[in-house]
Amino acid sequence: MVEDGSMIRPRFHFTPPDGWLNDPNGLVYLDGEYHLFYQHHPNGLTWGPMHWGHAVSRDLLHWQHLPIALYPDEVGMIYSGSAVVDWSNTAGFGAGALVAVFTYHQADRESQHLAFSLDRGRTWNRYEGNPVLTPPLGVKDFRDPRVFWHVDHWVMCLAAGDTIRFFVSSELKSWTPSGEFGRCGSVEGVWETPDLFPLPVDGGPETRWVLTVGVGNGGPAGGSGTQYFVGQFDGSTFTSENPPETILWMDHGSDFYAPQSWNEEPHGRRVMLGWMNNWRYANTVPAETWRGMFSLPRELTLAITEQGVRLAQQPIREIEAHRGEHLHWQDQAIGPGENLLAGTRGGCLEILADLTPDLSVTRFGFRVRVGAEEATVIVCDMAARTLSVDRTRSGQVSFADGFAALHSAPLPMDGGEVNLRILLDRSSVEVFAGHGRVTLTESIFPAPESQGLDLFVEGGLLYIRQLEIYSLD
Ligand code: FRU
Repeated sequence: MVEDGSMIRPRFHFTPPDGWLNDPNGLVYLDGEYHLFYQHHPNGLTWGPMHWGHAVSRDLLHWQHLPIALYPDEVGMIYSGSAVVDWSNTAGFGAGALVAVFTYHQADRESQHLAFSLDRGRTWNRYEGNPVLTPPLGVKDFRDPRVFWHVDHWVMCLAAGDTIRFFVSSELKSWTPSGEFGRCGSVEGVWETPDLFPLPVDGGPETRWVLTVGVGNGGPAGGSGTQYFVGQFDGSTFTSENPPETILWMDHGSDFYAPQSWNEEPHGRRVMLGWMNNWRYANTVPAETWRGMFSLPRELTLAITEQGVRLAQQPIREIEAHRGEHLHWQDQAIGPGENLLAGTRGGCLEILADLTPDLSVTRFGFRVRVGAEEATVIVCDMAARTLSVDRTRSGQVSFADGFAALHSAPLPMDGGEVNLRILLDRSSVEVFAGHGRVTLTESIFPAPESQGLDLFVEGGLLYIRQLEIYSLD
């Protein structure tokens, strides 16, 4: 049994104290604190009247829960949105006010509202001039405002059906339409929760803008998923540099949705986290007094690849301070049936590997959270050139049709080598492959005692240039 009595509560991923959680909201840094708000139903374990839950952290890993920031009322709920620091008091709430911009959701109408805090997010006031933006006639889906400061004005992008709409403002209280982007990429599901930010290309002087968009259905692993576009933003609107039919998935697993990045990140990084769940089964995953968790915050970069400029993601470096016991192998080959990791166990681990299969290898990979009857398999298939997470026998799977499945991504290789970084927590596995060019995020619900680990190869020899395993405390 685990010490805190919980079978599934993660050790290093965010969860609500009680009740339901979905999208991250209002991510902003101010005065030494990373703020994290989230879609929250405090009195239930399923989606319901939405509040903004609230927590703060100094290192993105240890979170202090704070009182609920925003409450629904008889007519509407507090849907997703973002938060900014109004340094120069453009809105007149006060210099350095935290301003939350959120969707107020009524039965048949979604409008954008403001709330502000003058005490580092501890107490909140609704702006009496709400709403600050109402939907055009006939537009039902009009939500999830993402606001940031750009050069000399505020920008808002929000999701409206199968497009992202852009607005500009000088004072957050009135907004002028400035553009629209959409009806391209994946349009199978409703578009939700956009984010938009610039990143240097390969760390150099060139910049591209990245627009991330949640799609409610038709994701790479079925159900909801997150796509992204690469292009330019001119202060008014976004244009993609790829053909309209190009679909870029941010994550190929089943459980990375509605991500948002921090405004005001003090080190200049673009740090993002997502809801580690899928609308297909979110209301039925195993729960205790709480349900729902976030991914590990990730640092995003852009890299030039043969296909064009693409996102790369790595877990935030802060996690490295929590590495405990360390095992290390290098310059060694294993064959089929050899069990290098016999006796190695752990439920919360980080695995870093640089592996080269010889030409006759058919499959290789790791089995993690291995128990008598279960295992989650991270497998590289050399014929199909895929990287997959197979959770068909990962533990509890029968709570939703289709949860027991294998999800695949293209296998990134550098020369003949495969680079893998795997983070395992009590009820999740996050795989970063090819130095973060491909990620697969999956929730899993193994028995707490299923802590075996195995590196396997079939058909040939696997050369281990480097293999490191850390326990994560
Ligand atoms: C995305 C979403 C948002 C909405 C929120 C409601 O998961 O559907 O579009 O604001 O969840 O909880």
